[in-house]
Amino acid sequence: MNPILTAIQKSAIRIKHAIDVKDIGYSQEQNSSGETQLQLDIQSDLIIEEELSQIEGVHTIASEEKEEPMILNENGHYFIAFDPLDGSSLVDVNLSVGSIFGIYEGAFTPEKMVASCYVVYGPRVELVFAYEGKVKLYLLQNGEFEYVKEIHLNEKGKINAPGGTQQCWAPFHKTMIDSFFARGYRLRYSGGMVPDLHQILLKGGGLFSYPGASDKPEGKLRMLFEVFPFAFIFETAGGKAVDGTIRVLEKNPRHVHDTSPCFFGSCDEINEVISVYAGQQ
Ligand code: AHG
Ligand code: MN
Ligand code: MN
Ligand code: MN
Repeated sequence: MNPILTAIQKSAIRIKHAIDVKDIGYSQEQNSSGETQLQLDIQSDLIIEEELSQIEGVHTIASEEKEEPMILNENGHYFIAFDPLDGSSLVDVNLSVGSIFGIYEGAFTPEKMVASCYVVYGPRVELVFAYEGKVKLYLLQNGEFEYVKEIHLNEKGKINAPGGTQQCWAPFHKTMIDSFFARGYRLRYSGGMVPDLHQILLKGGGLFSYPGASDKPEGKLRMLFEVFPFAFIFETAGGKAVDGTIRVLEKNPRHVHDTSPCFFGSCDEINEVISVYAGQQ
C-alpha cells in the first residue's frame, strides 16, 4: 500500500502546482457524465495515470475523466478508481477542490475495497487516508506530507450540507433538511464535496446529503469516484454512509460512471435519514 500512497502524494503535489499556474479554460471534450471537461480535469487525470503507471502493483485504473477502465499491468492486484479533480468548476472562483481515490483488490466492488484517500487543495494541502481501520490526516509541509492526527467522528454533529436543487427535492426530503436547521444545525455547503465532507470529518460530524430528486433520480455523485471512497472513510471514522435506505457500500454500479443518492455523516444524523426514508417506502 505504501507505494500507492506515495504515488498519490506525488500526484497531489503536481496537481496543486497545475492548479496554481494553469489557465482555467474549458476543453472541447465532454466526459461520460456529460460535463465539459476543464483543461485542469484532463491534466489532473493524466498526472495520476502517469504516477500510478509507475507502481507495479496496479492492475487497472478507472477515472471520472476516462470513458472506460484502463489496464496498466495484468500482474498487478490493485484496482484504483479516482476523481482527479473534484469541484473543478470552483477553481475559477478560488474555492477549495480535491482529488478522491478508492483502492480495491481484484475488482471495483465495494467488498473488495481496502483503502481510500482524498486530497484537499485549499489554503493548505491536506491528505486523508483510510486503511486498516484508521483514518489519518496528513499536511503538506515543505514538499512532504507530515502525519497530523487520526480522525474520529462524534455520535452527532452540528453541520448540515444539503446538495441538489431544492425545487426538485421530494417534499419529505425538504421537511427533513428543514428540521435539522430548525434544531440549530448550521448550513455549510461550498459545492465541492471534498471540502464539504472534510469539514464534517474535522468538526466532529453532521450531515452531507445529495439525494435522488426529480431532475436527477439517481443523484449526481458517482459511486466509484466519489461515493464509495467517502463511504469507506466515514465508516472507518465511526460514521455512516447510506443511499437513504441501505449502506452505499452494499451497492454495485452496473457501469463505471453510475451515480447514487448519498448521505454521509455521524451515526445520529444518518439514523434519522434512514428512519425518515423508511417512512416513505
Ligand atoms: P466534479 O467537479 O468532480 O464533477 O464533482 C462536482 C460534484 C461535487 O464535488 C459536489 O458535491 C457536487 O458536484 C455539487 O453539485 P451541485 O452543484 O449540484 O450542488
Ligand atoms: Mn466533473
Ligand atoms: Mn467530483
Ligand atoms: Mn472531477
